[in-house]
Amino acid sequence: MEEQGRKGKRVLFFPLPLQGHITPMLQLANILHLNGFSITIILADNFNTTFNTIRANYPHFTFHTISDGLSEDDKAKTDVDALFLLSLFNEKCAPHFTEALRQLVLEDPNIVCLISDSILHFTKAVADSLNLHRLVLRTGGVSSCLAYAAIPLLQNKAYFPIQGIESQLEEAVEELPPLRIKDLPIFKTYNVDALYQVIQGMIRETKASSGLIINSFEQLEQFSMSKLRDDFSIPIFPIGPFHSHFPASSSSLMSQDQTSISWLDTKTPKSVIYVSFGSLAAIEINEFLEIAWGLANRNHPFLWVVRPGLIRGSEWIELLPNEFLETVDGRGHIVKWAPQQQVLAHLAVGAFWTHNGWNSTLESICEGVPMICMPCFGDQMVNARYVSHVWKVGVQLENGLKRMNIENAIRTLMEEEEGKQIKERMLELKEKANSCLKPGGSSYESLRSLTSYISSF
Ligand code: UDX
Repeated sequence: MEEQGRKGKRVLFFPLPLQGHITPMLQLANILHLNGFSITIILADNFNTTFNTIRANYPHFTFHTISDGLSEDDKAKTDVDALFLLSLFNEKCAPHFTEALRQLVLEDPNIVCLISDSILHFTKAVADSLNLHRLVLRTGGVSSCLAYAAIPLLQNKAYFPIQGIESQLEEAVEELPPLRIKDLPIFKTYNVDALYQVIQGMIRETKASSGLIINSFEQLEQFSMSKLRDDFSIPIFPIGPFHSHFPASSSSLMSQDQTSISWLDTKTPKSVIYVSFGSLAAIEINEFLEIAWGLANRNHPFLWVVRPGLIRGSEWIELLPNEFLETVDGRGHIVKWAPQQQVLAHLAVGAFWTHNGWNSTLESICEGVPMICMPCFGDQMVNARYVSHVWKVGVQLENGLKRMNIENAIRTLMEEEEGKQIKERMLELKEKANSCLKPGGSSYESLRSLTSYISSF
């Protein structure tokens, strides 16, 4: 009966065209499609992304491509500073999106709402001008969202810029427990003020939206969720983990090296450390070499994703010394990009050394893989703190990226009693992640509310 009410209703989706954002948006679209809605995805043509694989993987969606409005000069800037894209995009894409949305709404009376990435805050005014309901997808977690919302307050209290207060990094941030100053969402971008303005726009226009959809679940972020409900008086739908609602479907913008899986097949259960720092993080050459020797010096097999662009000033792995390659021969496998969800689900994987992007963090929890946390910027700092100190399902690499610290973290997680306890807690959390999607579970019920809500438009 309810399904019937949705028949023909079309939902428009507008993702930010970056890997960590487009993936959860497509997953959400898939979830709503499974619940009877028709789907149109508006894709902004971004300089370094290729959408052809995505189109092929989602034949049940309609795709509508628009220009991102970025000039060659803009593209060159975002090449060296990917975060600059966020402010540029809000400014340059607006006219193209406005025109596209106007046309789509004019042509199809079945369109009931727009779901846009929370970062794309300019979409609020556009949707309002067309009397179209606009829901927002927060692709990251709730706790990091609260930290973003607190940025103006933290600026007033002189927590930012963090560079001026290095001696206080270990101190607690009273306004945001359990964060320390070093866990605040800092960004390495040349125009940090422009980025903070985007974040403020994101919070303001999310609060003014018709509803907030979150890729998280109640039991994971209970305290933050209730604080969010106090601060944001709009309907809130925590329906995650998104990717667990259906069998794996790829939305990877890069080609995934399947030798990762055949190589894992040769390894014993829970023996391998999987190492990946997502699609945006960058490290220095000396840090890259410390990671290499940290891995080489403990005797565990490892699958290491070295994404081209990961190492500042180097193409790929050409700087690895022969001595390292001889030491890890047969024990280490290096790829440019892996099928991460399959890797984490593989029996051979015993730990995930991650930058704690929200997708990676959730994927690890859903497969019960404990983490070594190495946050690089933004929400990753907050996520890492929760992984290591709230859920206690990982260890955080602190005090610099030095081979000694890396070896210690690996030893703790893979060899010591503390590591065993971390693994046990991780299995309990995995169980919670699975049960929230079952009938009666919090995400299951929240999804029912969301689909009825959209059907009522
Ligand atoms: C970015 C931000 O860095 C992150 O902090 C924010 O939460 C989301 O946007 P990214 O750095 O790419 O995301 O990290 P993450 O959120 O973990 O997303 C990476 C995605 O790429 C995951 O879904 C992961 O499965 C996939 N991936 C990663 C691969 O498919 N193969 C790889 O080799 C590595």
